[in-house]
Amino acid sequence: MNILLLNGPNLNMLGHREPEKYGTETLSEIVKSVSTHAEKLAVSLDHFQSNAEHALIDRIHQAFGKIDVIIFNPGAFTHTSIALRDALLSVAIPFYEVHLSNIYARENFRHHSFFSDIAAGVLFGMGSLGYHLALTAAVTQYKSN
Ligand code: DQA
Repeated sequence: MNILLLNGPNLNMLGHREPEKYGTETLSEIVKSVSTHAEKLAVSLDHFQSNAEHALIDRIHQAFGKIDVIIFNPGAFTHTSIALRDALLSVAIPFYEVHLSNIYARENFRHHSFFSDIAAGVLFGMGSLGYHLALTAAVTQYKSN
């Protein structure tokens, strides 16, 4: 089983960026710990982060035929990007949407996601644990199919 962990804009700043909302772990620390978790579950995990919408779209297209499940924190593109939604629909790869913060307890403009209604699952408000829970769910659901 091949999983792609995908992170959108400003998530490269984790650890420094608004730590009261997003925690103090850096993205590389999170990726390391999710990768260790994936190894224990005997699944392969690739990671890609970009601040550019087109680069994320290209990475989703490259996943076609190679990746079984995507775990995706689209960052602020959550609330704006029909193009990323269409990219996920075009490859038809099941994906889990993850947010470190509880987007529903924040500004109104964060309450709408262009992804949640087409996601296999949505995890928010649990910090980096959300990535681990998404990985557990992805592997459990994939193996039961
Ligand atoms: C986020 C929530 C988004 O609203 C925000 O723009 C982010 C991070 C989260 O992980 O909580 O960049 O996706």
